Amino acid sequence: MPSVLDLAGVAPARWLVTGAAGFIGSNLTETLLRAGHSVVALDNLATGHLSNVDDVRVAVGPEHAQRLRFLEGDICDDAVCADAVADVDYVLHQAALGSVPRSIDRPLPSFAANVDGFMRILDASRRAGVRRFVYASSSSVYGDHPDLPKREMVVGRVLSPYAATKSADELFAGVFARCYGMACVGLRYFNVFGRRQDPEGAYAAVIPRWIDAMLRSEAVRINGDGETSRDFCYIDNAVQANLRAALVPSVPDGHRVYNVAVGARTSLNELFALLRELLQARDPTLTIAEPVHAEFRAGDVRHSLADISLAQGELGYRPTHDIRAGLVEALDWYVRRSAAG
Ligand SMILES: NC(=O)c1ccc[n+]([C@@H]2O[C@H](COP(=O)([O-])OP(=O)(O)OC[C@H]3O[C@@H](n4cnc5c(N)ncnc54)[C@H](O)[C@@H]3O)[C@@H](O)[C@H]2O)c1
Repeated sequence: MPSVLDLAGVAPARWLVTGAAGFIGSNLTETLLRAGHSVVALDNLATGHLSNVDDVRVAVGPEHAQRLRFLEGDICDDAVCADAVADVDYVLHQAALGSVPRSIDRPLPSFAANVDGFMRILDASRRAGVRRFVYASSSSVYGDHPDLPKREMVVGRVLSPYAATKSADELFAGVFARCYGMACVGLRYFNVFGRRQDPEGAYAAVIPRWIDAMLRSEAVRINGDGETSRDFCYIDNAVQANLRAALVPSVPDGHRVYNVAVGARTSLNELFALLRELLQARDPTLTIAEPVHAEFRAGDVRHSLADISLAQGELGYRPTHDIRAGLVEALDWYVRRSAAG
């Protein structure tokens, strides 16, 4: 296997990254291009931004950017999917409508993108004979199961339409492995954060939303008592997991799901304290308001902590950043983004 984010020694290949104008997809695209690979980047810009694709082009430079083909289109459209997968070796499928609350407010769009669209890109990939289909699942599939840490084989009842869509994806990927011999890997991301994560909109994730509020000296809102905890995973760890999942020589039983996280738990109260410390170290004049507490959010699980030993053992996955190291690395980006927005 290649070392962590270093694809040296891997023969240049052709990759499809779906959701490439979004947070995780744009980071995958950037890493692949930098390493000399070719990328078809598909996105319908539902929640992603063309500016992320432009950022990637600038970051990798004109020579590498030549091997990027951006395709604006919807994974629910079979013709788009067929075009996107043509001559592709590996698929990293990230396109979906994220967010538990979004799916509770409007379940049908989440179903369309995350299940119907998933099936169409999965089936197009099967017909194109891709070498590996790696897709974004979610820690939300653990639902109400109380065990900590979360182990891949033990799931509870899902608590939101979003979680149900990701469970359905895992079911279908397993079936495609059994019926058609496709090699599929699902990655259950646990609260990924880092550069190009969208701070805007009603469904923004907690870290960009809080940094934005803190920089404006507005009080952040903590849903519940703040003891809700998450296994926050820096983007570089998620990128590493994708590359390893695609390139590991074989997939046991044709389909595997792996936790992608750090294996450490941070409460919302701890997250608040850490962000305050890092932002005030950067700017001692910044005044940060005390948080306000609101109701617990429907559909949220109380605690989330991953057992990452399966990915460590089978993929050689080694997270390089814990939450502090990730925030230190990404803080400048968050601050610049907040000032620009
Ligand atoms: N960020 C996290 O913490 C996290 C956690 C668990 C799972 N995930 C999953 O990881 C994947 C990537 O998430 P992200 O955080 O980068 O979100 P994101 O919203 O930044 O990226 C998703 C991208 O998919 C695109 N998209 C949505 N519907 C589409 C469609 N029908 N056709 C084509 N493109 C479409 C959006 O425009 C967007 O650019 C998603 O599948 C998400 O469910 C993310």
